[in-house]
Amino acid sequence: MHRVLIQHGTIVTATDKFEADVYIEDEQVQAIGKNLSYDADEVIDAKGCYLFPGGIDPHTHMDLPFMGTFSSDDFETGTLAGLHGGTTTIIDFAIQTQGKSLQSALDEWHQKADGKAVGDYAFHMGVTDFNDNTRQEIKDVVEKHGVTSFKTFMAYKGAFMIDDRQMLGLMDEAGKYGGIVTAHAENGDMIDELTAKHKAQGNLAPKYHALSHPEIAEAEASGRFIDLAYKGNHPCYIVHMTCEGALNRVREATKRNQTVHVETCIQYLLLDDSLYDKPGFEGSKWVFSPPLRKPKDQEALWSGIDQNLVHTVGTDHCPFCMDQKRMGENDFSKIPNGAPGVEHRMELLYSEGVEKGRISLNKFVELTATAPAKIFGMFPKKGTIAVGSDADIVIFDPKKEHTISAKTHHHRCDYSAYEGWQVKGKVRSVFLRGHLVIDDGKALVEKGFGQYIARKPYHQELSESPKQLVNI
Ligand code: URP
Ligand code: ZN
Ligand code: ZN
Repeated sequence: MHRVLIQHGTIVTATDKFEADVYIEDEQVQAIGKNLSYDADEVIDAKGCYLFPGGIDPHTHMDLPFMGTFSSDDFETGTLAGLHGGTTTIIDFAIQTQGKSLQSALDEWHQKADGKAVGDYAFHMGVTDFNDNTRQEIKDVVEKHGVTSFKTFMAYKGAFMIDDRQMLGLMDEAGKYGGIVTAHAENGDMIDELTAKHKAQGNLAPKYHALSHPEIAEAEASGRFIDLAYKGNHPCYIVHMTCEGALNRVREATKRNQTVHVETCIQYLLLDDSLYDKPGFEGSKWVFSPPLRKPKDQEALWSGIDQNLVHTVGTDHCPFCMDQKRMGENDFSKIPNGAPGVEHRMELLYSEGVEKGRISLNKFVELTATAPAKIFGMFPKKGTIAVGSDADIVIFDPKKEHTISAKTHHHRCDYSAYEGWQVKGKVRSVFLRGHLVIDDGKALVEKGFGQYIARKPYHQELSESPKQLVNI
């Protein structure tokens, strides 16, 4: 039995902030209170630091076969990079190959992750081919495998995209078992048409990727997805929302009392489309879908957080090295879509969000840990610091300043999307299930330490609350 006592830290949850000690035994928090006295194998002084729940990134792609290559982080390097930045759990995507079963995708992703991941992980089920066979698999995906969320793509025709009829069928079937359907919401046909037009005109530079993925393509698909969910009275979740137009479709839906969960990603809050004007092929570093938008969209997303329209902040971590990006040197449509980010989500959101007064500390925890845990059926095991919860705890030094660079990051990627960004606030230590896995920038964990997290159906977690705090 491994026993840890963390003393004098300031615990921050989605609702509270208080100074207390935390005692950990058997991978879980056993007690929280002032001046706890327990025999422990490890005693850590966290004075002057915040204790945050381990981050949950609801959107990553490790080792993803995509656009003729594979994302460059696998489950070992990617989850380790996440741990360095305070993300202790990721939800990756096991994506069905069209013509094959859901089970074969789950098998494939377990093979990629089991025994390799360093941090904890779960899967969304990527459904790219909803047919009578797929329909029969849904119950087992939820009930046997604990994969309770389904990812759909309204773009990437010929690889991942499904049509509206498939979407309706999936929503109904998943809904029977408490599954929630999520979507990459962009109008695939509009994108394909614009891409072909730009290429025909000889416009082949990275910035034409962005011009082929306009805001209206995302707004239209977001509205359509929301309407399809409304038709069947189903919950829904939109991944990586980037823009005002899409957010306004969500705002409209709230007027008929519909619940739409929205994820944005850190890059859409902090970066804008002026990066595509960088010289040469530089703009390819930010070629992902949807693309970066305008400053007015960043403002809309920050306001959306305030207005409770945006619920989670992920990364869509999907890195490609520059030699992979160069597959599209002469044709933007061949640049593998994606960028690294899992390591810096929490520090960037703290620095740009909390430190600059845009969000509260509690909101920071809600966006990075509690809301993903609740929406995706992991709460209160994950997503908070409470008695009985997994001891996934980040000791965070709010005063420490540092600079992000590819020279020092842990992503397996030869560039950083945030090169040179100065950040205030740094992860000092990270506990995953009570084990000190990162300390002062050093990794103390072995390949395979990460566990697969089977999840509960949507909203079942509401019947379970964290246990009461003691001795406060
Ligand atoms: O460009 C992106 N986002 N790449 C990963 C796949 C996806 O659409 O999420
Ligand atoms: Zn996507
Ligand atoms: Zn993605």
